[in-house]
Amino acid sequence: MTAMASFNPKAFRDALSTFTTGVTIITTRNAQGEPIGVTANSFNSVSLNPPLVLWSLAKSALSLDAFSSNKHWNVHVLSVEQEGLSGRFASRGEDKFADIELDRGINDIPLLHNSTARFQCRTAFMYEGGDHVIFVGEVLGFDKSELPALAFQSGQYALTARKPREGVRLSSANEYPPECSYTEDLLGYLIGRTHFQLVAYLRTLLQNHKLDEHAFFVLSVLSIRDRLTLEQINQFVSYTGREVSQSMLLFLEKQRFIAVEADGDVQRFVLTADGREASLEHIALAKAVEQDVTEKLGAGDAQALKILLKRVIHATDPGLPDLWVAEQKNSPNI
Ligand SMILES: Cc1cc2nc3c(=O)[nH]c(=O)nc-3n(C[C@H](O)[C@H](O)[C@H](O)COP(=O)(O)O)c2cc1C
Repeated sequence: MTAMASFNPKAFRDALSTFTTGVTIITTRNAQGEPIGVTANSFNSVSLNPPLVLWSLAKSALSLDAFSSNKHWNVHVLSVEQEGLSGRFASRGEDKFADIELDRGINDIPLLHNSTARFQCRTAFMYEGGDHVIFVGEVLGFDKSELPALAFQSGQYALTARKPREGVRLSSANEYPPECSYTEDLLGYLIGRTHFQLVAYLRTLLQNHKLDEHAFFVLSVLSIRDRLTLEQINQFVSYTGREVSQSMLLFLEKQRFIAVEADGDVQRFVLTADGREASLEHIALAKAVEQDVTEKLGAGDAQALKILLKRVIHATDPGLPDLWVAEQKNSPNI
């Protein structure tokens, strides 16, 4: 192949990157016995019998010598929790293995922990591939975990959500209602229904404590940020569209869930031991509900759902104060 492609290299790259892949780190040892590793998404399966896989390495890569001379290398299909490692192994020249726990694979080739799958390989063929070298490896051993795999799409890390074969329609009706009516595909309906179905489990607990959902929001805010004024509490729960009244705080105080501290002219509210215990009970139940849903969806899909929900929250955020950032000692009151 001699003819130089006439198309724009960036456009070509962009088009290629629409092909969604997993992400791998491939490890070996160089002639000095030092561990070598590189991030690669060119990995693919080739043959089941004999078991063969392939990947390609840029001729400009510092690791080319090591991979060309050592016949043994290990492929790690990265899990979502290994995104940081992917970045580290995609950089040149730094000590990529610093502080990383390793197992010793076949021929002492490094094996990383917490990957979705690992393949221990020996080079069967090497091919010229333009500005890359293609390695085809015979798989000598492999293992697999249940950790959801990291994906890569159009230059960005991604999580995959499975699309069940039978579809995800809620209703069995064959025809969708006309445009002017509500449909099961309305985002607000889906999120609203999800919320109510999830909190249904928690209502019994709230009833035991004679609390309504809104009163409980107050306790949960105070369990994250103590010593808030009524105004501050209201800012944090304003996303619910309902206002916390002085009388609700009085009620919570009477129930001994919260106590008032005087701060000059200002009243600040803190959780009592009972309030904290009720919050902890609530958190434990919320976690149990989440675990149940996660088991039904699968860990990867549950994580993908959380990311999408956070994006929806950001996209619709009217600029609320962030409850989750660490409180700065000298920061002015919100
Ligand atoms: C998600 C991702 C996938 C990559 N895939 C490959 C690949 O398949 N082949 C390759 O040569 N470089 C690939 N790279 C780039 C290398 O990881 C990068 O050039 C690295 O610096 C090479 O390390 P080295 O120079 O120490 O050998 C990829 C980078 C990222 C972030």
